[in-house]
Amino acid sequence: MLERAKRLLQPSARSAVPPFMVMDVVAAAARLEAQGRRIIHMEVGQPAAGAPKTAIDAARAALSSPLRYTETLGMASLRRRIARAYAEWHGLDIDPARIAVTTGSSAGFILAFLTAFEPGDRVAVALPGYPPYRHILTALGYEPVGIETDAATRWSITGGALLARHRISPLKGVVVASPANPSGTMMTAPALAELIRTAEDAGIIVISDEIYHGLDYAFAAECAARISPDAIIINSFSKYFFMTGWRIGWMVVPPLLIRTVERLQQNLAISVPTLSQIAAEAAFDGRAELDEVRRGYETNRRILLEGLPRGGLDSFLPADGAFYLYANVSRFSTDSFAFATRMLEEAGVAATPGVDFDPMRGKSCLRLCYAGAREEMHEAVERIGNWLK
Ligand SMILES: Cc1ncc(COP(=O)(O)O)c(C=O)c1O
Repeated sequence: MLERAKRLLQPSARSAVPPFMVMDVVAAAARLEAQGRRIIHMEVGQPAAGAPKTAIDAARAALSSPLRYTETLGMASLRRRIARAYAEWHGLDIDPARIAVTTGSSAGFILAFLTAFEPGDRVAVALPGYPPYRHILTALGYEPVGIETDAATRWSITGGALLARHRISPLKGVVVASPANPSGTMMTAPALAELIRTAEDAGIIVISDEIYHGLDYAFAAECAARISPDAIIINSFSKYFFMTGWRIGWMVVPPLLIRTVERLQQNLAISVPTLSQIAAEAAFDGRAELDEVRRGYETNRRILLEGLPRGGLDSFLPADGAFYLYANVSRFSTDSFAFATRMLEEAGVAATPGVDFDPMRGKSCLRLCYAGAREEMHEAVERIGNWLK
């Protein structure tokens, strides 16, 4: 019976995406906690706060009404509110008809890729970079093309690097993120403009992941919509609005593609959870709380940037935004998974090995998320410093 089942239930080749190594760190941390150890969690990129109070109050009030499907692209009032945010944040006039509300930015990627690409198309992504870009592309039958970035280009893909790959074998798309995960680095406005213009002139569609907008400390993050109406923008309520579990995000879609996104979402999801849409709309009114949480990240970032070098961890990519530090630990180890495991067991600090984000060079890197409480940041600095002594 088992043999028959094994033959019958062969997973598809396209589903053979790598696991997220950080989840092994999460599991190991949980085991230590079950033994009574207190672990400082800096491994998962997740804000500590729940959701803005305005969002929770609106969700509570909505619970007594019937929560039906909404329009596929989202409630009209929410789409209008998101469009207004572009005027407030960037001085941009975005037509609400271009907004598609999605189930987190994760669903936005699936919709964007299905909308823009044919099976087999090659899509460039930065290394280091957020692993699901590569893995969603693979699962959907596209070919992710990793482009290694380095300090010389502020850890971002340049037009030149993109064209060099395009000449070897044509690319159909490129995913950019600023601020980026895992590095926290940002692209300057001219660098983003150069990349988008070069890509579009070469017939390469740009997908701009702007999920960490609002969490930009070094300089203001540029919005791809200012540069081109043809870029597909992905955003989310998960990070700046700290609503990860509400699973809600949005896209800004070029007018020529919005009906395609709508048709796909009609079939893939019908609509996005209504309660989350109601809460998300109200989250925009939680400005004071959003600002306070952001200020907390800025403080945490300063604590780590000042404290970790004193303890021996002194090589980081520029921590411009988001809530990550990407540290080069090659002085100590070239096996970041083993290093993270030892740091967890011996210092009680959980971090993500870089191999999740950059399969080769990530062996020398570690990502630390500073979205936790301020006291924990001080404690992490102390624990890591004592451990590295
Ligand atoms: C760069 C980046 N993009 C997208 C996501 C997905 O977020 P969500 O689906 O919660 O919007 C994450 C989550 O960590 C991320 O770091």
